[in-house]
Amino acid sequence: MPDDASSQSRGAERPPEIARRYTLRNRRGTTAVLTDAGASLMEFWSVDRNGGWADVVLGHDAPQAYLHNDNYFGCTVGRVANRISLSSFECSGARHTLTANEGEHHLHGGAGGFSSRLWRAEWLDLPGAAGALRFSLRSADGEEGYPGNLDVSVTYQLDEQDGLLIEYQASTDKTTPVNLTNHSYWNLAGEGSALGHTLQVQAGEYLEVDAALLPTGRRLAVAGDAFDFRYPLRLGDVLKQRPAGVDHCFVLNAAPRDNALRDVALLTDHSSGRSLQVATTEPCLQVYSGNVLDRVEGKSGRLYAQHSGICLEAQGYINAPNRPEFPAIWLQPGEVYRQRTRYRCALAE
Ligand code: BGC
Repeated sequence: MPDDASSQSRGAERPPEIARRYTLRNRRGTTAVLTDAGASLMEFWSVDRNGGWADVVLGHDAPQAYLHNDNYFGCTVGRVANRISLSSFECSGARHTLTANEGEHHLHGGAGGFSSRLWRAEWLDLPGAAGALRFSLRSADGEEGYPGNLDVSVTYQLDEQDGLLIEYQASTDKTTPVNLTNHSYWNLAGEGSALGHTLQVQAGEYLEVDAALLPTGRRLAVAGDAFDFRYPLRLGDVLKQRPAGVDHCFVLNAAPRDNALRDVALLTDHSSGRSLQVATTEPCLQVYSGNVLDRVEGKSGRLYAQHSGICLEAQGYINAPNRPEFPAIWLQPGEVYRQRTRYRCALAE
């Protein structure tokens, strides 16, 4: 019997999953380093007002580390970002039970969510792009408890204006919830605390949450609140009023038309002169101020502490499958889920 057949009959061990790094660089030198582990953004190199370069996202040195990325540095989160209460929802008359990975709740797609998967990578030659790479995977029917085979792709595209466009697409063969996002932690100084950054968000409301960080269903107006990010606020000042930090879903001002990118947030570090402009097609922005980071070993032996980075996660409404009052996140067979978010790191204007 040939060797390969005999090893198959013994049940061949699966080859180890080897994660790789991929580099996109534009003419100015702005560089995005990606990995197929979790379809993640590992590094984003950006120039400061004195011509110095820094990597402005938190993460790990080795791509392999992104397969066990407990703090979700830079990764693609799915099938459904954030929490699903009691790890369960009803769809097409059936109750679906998901893996519970945060107490009794389901967080960021479960223990084996998209952030822990090794994606297939493919270089793309797109007009106008300095470089582009597409990651894709199939999430099987029943994976983590979700119904339907879901084919997903995430395309990263760096442009000559220092913008990194992330385009997501998905299609399914059964009705299923889909809510994808990127979980990069930004620190525009490159290291230290991000509490000196100012943040502006084009949102008039945010979702009230309970002790488990699940939306109660109430929308709160930002006017008169510590979270009135319609005007730039220094994060350190906001946290003086909200010591638990920001971990909230902001309801963005409506898009001018369906699926159009609009500017929704601006993060600025006045010390380096860098700012991050966020534009998206999505209705919501989860702002997370790295509240649970606690001496997490990161790049070059650095220890990330609370508030070392800020996540600006564009997405749909949180726990929407269990909150009929929120706009839905169902994807039906025959439809295509599309979301686009662009992060542009440039000198503050
Ligand atoms: C959530 C946090 C959660 C964190 C995990 C964020 O997107 O909003 O509640 O603790 O992800 O890294």
